[in-house]
Amino acid sequence: MKNLIAALALTLMPAAALAEEAAPPPKWSLAIHGGAGTLDPKAMTPERRAAYEAALQQALDAGAKVLAEGGSAMDAVKAAIIPMEDSPLFNAGKGAVFTWEGTNELDASIMDGRDRSAGAVAGVKTVKNPILLADTVRTQSEHVFLMGAGAEAFAAEKGFAVTPPEYFATPARREALERLKAEKLSALDVDHKFGTVGAVALDQNGNMAAGTSTGGMTGKRWGRVGDAPVIGAGTYADNRACAVSATGWGEYFLRVGVAHEICARLRAANELKTVMADADDIDASVLTEEAQYIADAVMADVKGLGGDGGVILVTPEGHAIFSFNTTGMYRGRATSAGVREVAIFGGEEKASATPDH
Ligand code: GLY
Repeated sequence: MKNLIAALALTLMPAAALAEEAAPPPKWSLAIHGGAGTLDPKAMTPERRAAYEAALQQALDAGAKVLAEGGSAMDAVKAAIIPMEDSPLFNAGKGAVFTWEGTNELDASIMDGRDRSAGAVAGVKTVKNPILLADTVRTQSEHVFLMGAGAEAFAAEKGFAVTPPEYFATPARREALERLKAEKLSALDVDHKFGTVGAVALDQNGNMAAGTSTGGMTGKRWGRVGDAPVIGAGTYADNRACAVSATGWGEYFLRVGVAHEICARLRAANELKTVMADADDIDASVLTEEAQYIADAVMADVKGLGGDGGVILVTPEGHAIFSFNTTGMYRGRATSAGVREVAIFGGEEKASATPDH
């Protein structure tokens, strides 16, 4: 409650800032992530860094192309996530971490900010691109969330090919599970970063969407499900507020309801500013600093409980924002205003995604 009041108070403060001349907002905006965590620049070889940057760039370019050509935010989110699910570098699709039992169990969710329709799957083992299955749940079922064998039966009914489990398995992830067991380590010790992938987009029609896909955490047991497939925790989109995708220690993101919490605070800020703007004949748009403040405040709440990770979000004004309480987050953003960048460690961005907002 205190944070909500602080966020609302912030919206009351920048009356002077609101009077500033602002450049037209970007027509479209996109942000992606490939996981956050304890990343040490010294521990990363130039080759490995180049491989991650190239994979992030490929995902960013795929989503940006859809938006630049007038495609929908939903299509852009899927276009950006699929290459990351297909890359062994990220903990989603191929390259997913192993469960305690030595399987790869995949979770994904997607949400359309136009009507808040949503689809999610958890614990699927034979679907190459879980984000596409989540979207099929959204569009071709009367449900939001399907799990395990039931989700796979639904996939088969909808014509998804059965991908052999060996496709998802990579030696590095298997070695991480073996080390976790042999040395009695936690997932955090072996994963170092949460390689969940996600994308958020604002399209030229002002619609927003968010999607997230993950293998979860190494050594997960008993059907454990994290935040990524949970609407409101790992993913949320609402045209009135923002689109959010999260990466991090899922249990904490679930407890905070991170993605919905950020959108709810932004919506409250938006509504308050609209009332004020009507009264004073001023611009009601939410400023970059305000959206950043709200995302940072929610991530601080996660940190306060003991969790770490990060979020990406876009707003109706076209702000493309990152917030993470870890040393790094694999990330990228692109806008119609010419921003096109990928980054890994903290503070690497060259420019604000919306310099005048
Ligand atoms: N954030 C992904 C997970 O905890 O499963």
